[in-house]
Amino acid sequence: MSILIKNIKELLQVRETNVKIVKGEDMKILPTIKNAYLMIEHDTIVEYGPMSDLIDYEAEEVIDAKGKMVLPAWCDSHTHIVYAGDRSQEFVDRINGLSYEEIAERGGGILNSVEVLQNTSEEDIYEQSLKRLNSMMQLGTGAVEIKSGYGLTVEAELKMLRVIKRLKKESLATIKTTLLAAHAVPKEFKDNKKGFVDLVVSKMIPEVAQAKLAEYIDVFCEKGYFDLEDTERIMEAGKSFGLIPKIHVNQFNAFGGVALAVKHKALSVDHLEEMSDDDIEVLKDSITMPVALPSCSYFLSIPYTPARRIIDAGLPLALATDYNPGSTPSGNMNFVVSTACIKLRMTPEEAINAATINGAYAMGISNQYGSICRGKKANLIITKNIESYNNLPYAFGDNLIDTVIIKGKVIS
Ligand code: NIG
Ligand code: FE
Repeated sequence: MSILIKNIKELLQVRETNVKIVKGEDMKILPTIKNAYLMIEHDTIVEYGPMSDLIDYEAEEVIDAKGKMVLPAWCDSHTHIVYAGDRSQEFVDRINGLSYEEIAERGGGILNSVEVLQNTSEEDIYEQSLKRLNSMMQLGTGAVEIKSGYGLTVEAELKMLRVIKRLKKESLATIKTTLLAAHAVPKEFKDNKKGFVDLVVSKMIPEVAQAKLAEYIDVFCEKGYFDLEDTERIMEAGKSFGLIPKIHVNQFNAFGGVALAVKHKALSVDHLEEMSDDDIEVLKDSITMPVALPSCSYFLSIPYTPARRIIDAGLPLALATDYNPGSTPSGNMNFVVSTACIKLRMTPEEAINAATINGAYAMGISNQYGSICRGKKANLIITKNIESYNNLPYAFGDNLIDTVIIKGKVIS
């Protein structure tokens, strides 16, 4: 199958060389070609350029993108979309005055979702999760990381990971899988957190790694959840089985999780609503991508990640949704990009870089995704008629997507 997209008003995020990460000042630059074409063969971008360079090209399908822009599909590097049921009651409880922490202390929160998932069949979880994934793809997401973490027993974590494996097989989206066994201390281990960490280290990690059900290892490193010592033990165990760390840190408290993750060569540190100067310093000269999750801050009314301090220090930044039933029941990367501009004071160029190439980096796939580059996968968004790409974040809440192409196939 081959597709020619012609008369593109502006082709965004064009990279002649295979750039894998964009940092600091460079994030302000979004290379584009006006009045462009792009050629797809099978699942790959094979050629692009200004319309004046387009010579007779045989394509099975021709899309006329007059007035429209084309950009790489969003790369959402942090989600928890495999879950059962929802937590809309807790949403109302929060409106009525309870905090996210208070709800968790009463046995709600993550443990609420754990109980529901444990009692839901694998088939049912798959159907519910597939719906979420499909709606994310309709909204322009082509690659997504999915975490476990609502199982918390060996059996239930494996059930979640098998669902992710099936989504990987059945969906056109590119999926990366993370084992987040240490997401909360389960009820049975209420007074024995060390016993649960022992279980994660001695049983869950080896079983999951041997079954090749995950590529990354995550921990909710936070007061009341897992401390630095727990986090280090789990990262070390994961690494010994080839799982690369991607860690939840600094959502509510900054106490050294960033430095620890950097020390263990984490691929990303995610949340970062609270950031000390030391956290920023330690990220310099590291391979670790800071990831901001602005929809989570929006939904929980907690501080936004200080993107300006991060980028102005010369660091890269990625944006992701954090789609999950408790803190972010939304998988809309368009909203994330808008919110990043409005609340994190990122420029549209920075936000688009953060949601494409840097998101791909935070999933370890930026050699194949996240930019318009010959040889990269044809995961693309074609916008509706828009005046400038600034309209994408400007018109928040609007859906400005006309067509989504994933792996060379038009999906909407
Ligand atoms: O990233 N913070 C930890 N985990 C999720 C929330 C999970 C939940 O509330 O179910 C997050 O926000
Ligand atoms: Fe999360």
